[in-house]
Amino acid sequence: MEPSTTNESKDLVEGNFVDLHRLRGLGDDPVYYPPILEDRPRLWPLDKWSSAPRDLGYDNFATEHWKGLRLLKDPETQSVYHNILWEIKPKTIIELGVYSGGSLVWFRDLTKAFKFPSRLIGIDIDLSRCQIPEGEMDMISLHQADCNNPESFAFLKDNVEHPILFIDDAHCNTFNVIKYAVNNFLKVGDFVMIEDTMGMWGRYSPKHLKSHLASFKDVMALDLLYSNVPCQLKDGVFQVIKSNN
Ligand SMILES: C[S@@+](CC[C@H](N)C(=O)[O-])C[C@H]1O[C@@H](n2cnc3c(N)ncnc32)[C@H](O)[C@@H]1O
Repeated sequence: MEPSTTNESKDLVEGNFVDLHRLRGLGDDPVYYPPILEDRPRLWPLDKWSSAPRDLGYDNFATEHWKGLRLLKDPETQSVYHNILWEIKPKTIIELGVYSGGSLVWFRDLTKAFKFPSRLIGIDIDLSRCQIPEGEMDMISLHQADCNNPESFAFLKDNVEHPILFIDDAHCNTFNVIKYAVNNFLKVGDFVMIEDTMGMWGRYSPKHLKSHLASFKDVMALDLLYSNVPCQLKDGVFQVIKSNN
């Protein structure tokens, strides 16, 4: 191709870009799509067994699902939750961050299978992405509330049975939200989980993290049994050890 010799100025790059910062850790779409292997056949001929690719060819985190609903918890994290659920048998699971709702249905089904069905309370600033079908709402209630305004969780002060598993998966104003929870409705023996963010804070904001955690020293302790597994809950599993409620 001849190099352009005209003086016409034309943008080299065109189109509008989504501001990916707004999506943060979320996928493009709350709907689950089964993975498609694009660079290899799914069924590999057995006479070429030794040369079969030994990786999946895609990032399997995005394809975690429960009953066709996206579940943003990787297998190691799911395993830690199995163990915690079985140990504490929570009467209530409160999850901040609903997204597709897959995790709420997964928690509900697990606790039903374990024969101690928990009540599930899902809280999100934007419930429009929730994909839970009507017939799957047993034991699950959804509430719109904003972590930037912890007072919007005031409804949790009433009628919430303990033990509670309180999960921050909304990644917003975490320590003020937990402060509100321990001051207003959590009790000794309840668990607080911070998903995904402890490693990043430990790396980039260690001083803030250290002083924030120290402020909770009289009311929460790190649970070493569960917080040492390399997964989304690494360093983020706490037990409530003192409460006013
Ligand atoms: C990581 S997703 C939750 C994934 C889900 N818990 C799971 O395991 O599949 C985070 C969710 O937090 C919600 N969120 C973000 N900011 C929030 C805020 N200020 N208050 C409440 N929810 C918020 C988002 O709308 C999003 O649905």
